[in-house]
Order: sequence, then structure tokens, then C-alpha cells
Amino acid sequence: LQTFLSPHRLKGYKVLITAGATREDIDPVRFISNRSSGKMGYALANAVLAEGGEVILISGNSVLPPPIGAQLMPVYSAQDMYEAVMFNIENVDIFISTAAVADYRPAQVATQKMKKTVQSELSLPLERTTDILGEIAKLPQRPFTVGFAAETHDVANYAWEKLHRKKLNMIAANPVGKNQGFDSDENTLLVLWDGGEQDLGYGLKQDLAIDLLELVIKRFLLEKN
Ligand code: CTP
Ligand code: CA
Repeated sequence: LQTFLSPHRLKGYKVLITAGATREDIDPVRFISNRSSGKMGYALANAVLAEGGEVILISGNSVLPPPIGAQLMPVYSAQDMYEAVMFNIENVDIFISTAAVADYRPAQVATQKMKKTVQSELSLPLERTTDILGEIAKLPQRPFTVGFAAETHDVANYAWEKLHRKKLNMIAANPVGKNQGFDSDENTLLVLWDGGEQDLGYGLKQDLAIDLLELVIKRFLLEKN
């Protein structure tokens, strides 16, 4: 019904969305990851499809069914996601980065399962991953670029700072904690762009995705013309 009623404002446009959690291997049986479920990114993919847009969904770990009509590309680590995004970025009109990408990965991946020793403590050296969103925003011919900011505190301040530092077109800030944000059906979104902001409040991710896409379409069409 939604598809039928939608004015198809994204017909002819290509939207790349990252979603879910990346996994960074420690050894063959262990990894570092996070609580992301992919729900926000998959809901956005469905909202874009309902507007007639072409969707490439590059997804880390998620148990959700693939949105029908999207080109789904499963990836494992932050590096895999970075390479898949770069490989597909040509002719993308809108990039939406909902993935919870690891900021650090183990500097060395053990080829064999690590055994416990007599030591009571263990430290793992970590190294920084590539900031995928930051790299896309730096491209000379970049798409309309939308980031997310997951924060446990000072949500608006950190989000404004990320919008400006990464030179994004728009950022959706969400407080993470009990019953909202990661691994939840609900979220709270505050959307910021240069010159404006809108508080979308608390709701189902499916509904918030439609409201957020509404703002994205308006700003995208405005900045294109
Ligand atoms: N992001 C990304 N690649 C990374 C890290 C983050 O593309 N290696 C993207 C996320 O998908 C999100 C945005 O950057 O859209 C912000 O992620 P967030 O973790 O909130 O911010 P960071 O810049 O990583 O800063 P910090 O974790 O220190 O708050
Ligand atoms: Ca981060």
C-alpha cells in the first residue's frame, strides 16, 4: 500500500546504505562487535524502495530479512565494508551511513585459537579502522551524505560537532541506552543540517525511517537545484 501511495520521488536515483554491526576478528573463534541489529538501515532501505529509489544495502551482521528489491551485499569487517562502499560509490546520489562500524580492530589476528595462560590479565593491542563516512564525505564528486551519531550523553553537541568535522549534509543523532538505539525496535532521532534541525522524537524505527527520509529528500532535492 505504501509503495502504491508513494509519489516515487527517488525514481532514477541510487541510494547506498550501510547497516548492521561489523565484526573484527581476534582469532578463528572470537571477534569484537557491537549491539547493532541493522533495523534502522533496513527500515531506511524499505522507505527508499517505496519512493522508487534504487538501493544498495551493504550490511554487516544482522538477522533481518533482505528488503525485497534492494541489492544486498553482506560484509564482515569494517575493512570489508569500506572496500564494498568504495567499489559501489560511483553514480550514487545519496549515501546513508547507519552501520555501527568498529572504530578499532585487533592489530594482529591470531591464526590459531588463543589459549589461556597462567596470567590473570590479557591486553589486546588495537588499531584504528578507516572512517568510511569520513572518506566518502571527502570525495570530490560526493553523494548527498547522511551520517548517524550514536551517543550516550551530550547528544546534540556531539552530533553538531560530527556534522561539521565530517562535513556531512545531514546527521541523525540518537541517544543509545535502555530500550532505544542499538538492538531495539524503537529509536529517538534528532536530525541536524547546516542551517536547520528537526526533532523527530521517539518512535518505531520503521516510522522514523520514513520521517528521516522525508527530510533527506527535501534537502537533497533543494541542494541539487
Ligand atoms: N562511521 C563509519 N566508519 C567508521 C566509524 C563510523 O562510517 N569507521 C560512521 C557511522 O556509520 C555513523 C558515523 O560514522 O554514521 C558516526 O559514527 P559514531 O560511532 O557515532 O561516531 P565516530 O565518528 O566513530 O566517533 P565516536 O565513536 O568517537 O563517537
Ligand atoms: Ca564510532
